[in-house]
Amino acid sequence: MEKLTIITPDDWHLHLRDGDMLGETVPATARCFKRAIVMPNLVPPVTNATMANEYRQRILNALPAGNNFQPLMTLYLTDQTTQQDIIEAKEKNITAAKLYPAGATTNSNAAVSQLESLYPVFETMSEVKMPLLVHGEVTDGDIDVFDREKVFIDRHLSVITQRFPGLLVVFEHITTKDAVEFVISSSDKVGATITPQHLMLNRNDLLVGGIHPHNYCLPVLKRNIHQQALCDAVVSGNAKFFLGTDSAPHEKSRKEADCGCAGCYSAWSAIELYADIFEGLGVLDKLEAFASINGAKFYDLPVNESTITLIKSPWQIPQEITLPNGRPIVPFYAGKTVNWRIEGARS
Ligand code: NCD
Ligand code: ZN
Repeated sequence: MEKLTIITPDDWHLHLRDGDMLGETVPATARCFKRAIVMPNLVPPVTNATMANEYRQRILNALPAGNNFQPLMTLYLTDQTTQQDIIEAKEKNITAAKLYPAGATTNSNAAVSQLESLYPVFETMSEVKMPLLVHGEVTDGDIDVFDREKVFIDRHLSVITQRFPGLLVVFEHITTKDAVEFVISSSDKVGATITPQHLMLNRNDLLVGGIHPHNYCLPVLKRNIHQQALCDAVVSGNAKFFLGTDSAPHEKSRKEADCGCAGCYSAWSAIELYADIFEGLGVLDKLEAFASINGAKFYDLPVNESTITLIKSPWQIPQEITLPNGRPIVPFYAGKTVNWRIEGARS
């Protein structure tokens, strides 16, 4: 196939950051996605509806003229989040709330230390039908970083999904066979996003032949059997799995450092990389459901009416991009070739 037209996709897990960085990140996503679930891990975190709606406006201000991209806003749950915060968020058009275990990832210091204390909040979220988005990793120092997702399932996620059977739960950026099996065996209230990097890479791509900081993200890349399980999940076409890039920019100097940040900036090539992945797996015909239908249905939002066309025309991802502050960032898969491009996009 040389040409593929699909319903305009949505990105169900995205970091846009704030300030002048929005001048880079917002156009990069809005060039091909109609909507995106915007992560709230700013400094300080986005913990209430007022902050989220102010952030929404800053994002909209960074949109190229005439682009109708729609940011879907999220709240960052903390030990202080109340049931009233959720009710107010629902009234003020906030789409979802994000659970980061304290210390799990970038800017998660303010996050939740005792999950049980949030049970009343989960109850309200279930009542008002607000999805709970979960960064599914425990952070205990004695749990190996490669086991943190599985231990989170066993200790917490299985408990939450059983105790709140009506709560919509998105298990974000899953990385293991255990997570795939958990999602498949759960009710239809439980879905999951899968990133391009976790489909394309495994931990060899992070650690063999030298350390590769631009392939470092959290949850960390796992063994190839886990990568294979994620690929099998998308090949199955199961509607519980949908697109979430977890595009998470950090300046080059913050990635290539002695304590390098976690996150891959994939927005420049996101839908194109997914097209390559699906083609490689022999299921290009399943890209549209994964990218443009499954997530919208899970969130009970309308499927987009517009379309995008991808054409087979190889191009190279730049080695570096200059941010609005003048400093460089290295995009995910920099210098590598992508086979698909969006019709009408830069050459
Ligand atoms: C994300 C970031 O940098 O904000 N990093 C990452 O490696 N994915 C945070 C996150 O989603 O965990
Ligand atoms: Zn993320």
